[in-house]
Amino acid sequence: MNFFVIFFQKSPFFLPFLKKIVLSKITASITAVGSYLPKTVLDNKTLETMVDTTNEWITTRTGIKERRILKKGIGTSKMAIKAAKEVLKKSNTSPKEIDMVIVATITPDMHVSATAAHVATKIGSVNAFGYDLQAACSGFLYGMSVASSFIESGRYQKIILIGADKMSSIVDYSDRNTCIIFGDGAAAVLLEPNNEGLGLQDEFLRSDSVGREFLRIEAGGSQLPITKETIDQKKHFLFQDGKNVFKYAVSNMAEASYKIMERNNLTNKDVDYLVPHQANKRIIDATAKRMGICDSKVLMNIENYGNTTAATIPLVFADFEKKFKKGDNIILAAFGGGFTWGASFLKWSYNS
Ligand code: UT7
Repeated sequence: MNFFVIFFQKSPFFLPFLKKIVLSKITASITAVGSYLPKTVLDNKTLETMVDTTNEWITTRTGIKERRILKKGIGTSKMAIKAAKEVLKKSNTSPKEIDMVIVATITPDMHVSATAAHVATKIGSVNAFGYDLQAACSGFLYGMSVASSFIESGRYQKIILIGADKMSSIVDYSDRNTCIIFGDGAAAVLLEPNNEGLGLQDEFLRSDSVGREFLRIEAGGSQLPITKETIDQKKHFLFQDGKNVFKYAVSNMAEASYKIMERNNLTNKDVDYLVPHQANKRIIDATAKRMGICDSKVLMNIENYGNTTAATIPLVFADFEKKFKKGDNIILAAFGGGFTWGASFLKWSYNS
């Protein structure tokens, strides 16, 4: 037996054979990106008239200058549908070819039924099934994991993954701890099988419910249904203990990003871009420092949209798509409510 193994390894056919096996492994790659941002802008100057804050404080503490706000009475699905339609158009894909639609969100149109099911129907994906995924600001990273696994298994070929949140529907605009941070937006990607070794390479995902205390909406779930009292106590709004979330976010997002580099033998020179969750510029800077990468590799649009929760990472893809080249090594990193966090290593699969 050993004799045959050694003979085979030394034969000139071994390397091409090995290459074929490695390359024939199916990976899931992003093949198109689309986005939607509401027209209405809420800038720091306007927030100064709403709560006790200043443009200077918000800019220096977070890096945010303005955010977008979706009109009242319109749900998250509206933004998700527009982003998904752009993806179909750009990739020249018929909606009937889509197998699955995932919407990562903490602000679904309704608790029941799934926003993704509505999105799939509205874009004409009659052969798809859809469901929502709730992992707060890490929703898109977790969604990448789920969608990629389905594609790698060979069970499904075309999956639309959308990160979408209407944060203005859960933010208390008299609470300066939260209202200065969040904004509304959506972005979508199409994921398809790749046999060139591109797409999602590796991921490091974690969660820890220690975060329940620091970032939550207390009322409206099974534990504490909404009553007049919970509304009077404003428990239906998002609560954040910013200082504690910041502490956990800085260390975990930076460590996850470093770990994914280390595990894949990537040096700072090998990394082409960091696409981080856009929660606070200081958290992003700390992550980049831990990774040892220079500012030009760190992609940010936090200044324009604030924290759009599950939408931040795909919104960065949409804004910087033209920069990416086939084969670029991209690290994605996120941290959010739950707590949930992680980092992924992606090889970009196309030139725009
Ligand atoms: O995406 C999900 C995960 N979320 C995050 O990653 C967010 C993590 N947290 C943060 O980004 C930051 O903690 C905040 C931006 C929310 C707050 O920044 P900070 O530097 O941690 O401020 P702080 O909470 O420590 O507050 C510092 C001071 C306090 O005043 P005193 O006690 O020092 O007198 C606050 O009352 O700033 C005050 N403050 C404000 N002042 C003006 C808090 N919010 C504001 C505000 N405007 N909006």
